[in-house]
Amino acid sequence: MATTSIATLQKMKREGVKISSLTAYDSSFAKLMTEQGVDFMLVGDSLGNVVQGRNSTVPVTLGDMVYHTECVRRGAPDAFVISDMSFMTYSTPEQTYDNAAVLMQAGANMVKLEGGEWLEDTIKGLHTRGIPVCAHLGLLPQSVNVLGGYKVQGKEEQQAENTLRQAKALEAAGAQLLVLECIPSSLGKRITDALNIPTIGIGAGPDTDGQILVMHDMLGMNSDYLPKFAKDFLAQGGSLADAFRLYTEQVRSGEFPAPEHCYK
Ligand code: KIV
Ligand code: NA
Repeated sequence: MATTSIATLQKMKREGVKISSLTAYDSSFAKLMTEQGVDFMLVGDSLGNVVQGRNSTVPVTLGDMVYHTECVRRGAPDAFVISDMSFMTYSTPEQTYDNAAVLMQAGANMVKLEGGEWLEDTIKGLHTRGIPVCAHLGLLPQSVNVLGGYKVQGKEEQQAENTLRQAKALEAAGAQLLVLECIPSSLGKRITDALNIPTIGIGAGPDTDGQILVMHDMLGMNSDYLPKFAKDFLAQGGSLADAFRLYTEQVRSGEFPAPEHCYK
């Protein structure tokens, strides 16, 4: 088992110690991030964008997720690693159990699924069978074709209430961690205060229990575009190791995210 576990992350929430996490896709970066104190890594299906050069996560397959999970695990044998379940690999509970088992056997400690109440039975079933679940609310990139673009979610009060209700339902179903993507800071705080499980924000304000960024964004690798919620830590740190170290330090201290990285 990983030296960091879900119990570690729960304790950090209780004690108010901010959790630092990043996406990772390969062995060398996984090793370097772990050495610099990043608390856990997500093998995100954002690999569709940043590794494969696609314009969404929809084409990413379970096989892709397995390959990158194995790569990350080899570089960081003791780290806490979460793997995304890719598009349409968790449509029914039975299908989800089979596919989640494959990711766990590739080296994941937990799997992540995008969506709300429709996943309650699936999450309950995974949890019961020994597969820990990270839920994901707010902007759901796998639903980009339904949403009509990548937009901030939960700005209207009714939408915010809805997201809060879903968060509580997913926790009750057995989710042990929750990613919140691109929502107003006020909603990030409301959900974090209402839940016992740790929340991890990306563009969800300073009050979530932890932060996550796509590695390529926090290294400023796309010269045309830096998302509002991201910061170029390589520019500040000067080396990859120092970028990862600075990120963790600034998440811990609350220096990141600053107001300019947040949505009102
Ligand atoms: O795939 C990914 O990188 C993610 C993060 C944005 C949380 O799901
Ligand atoms: Na993802």
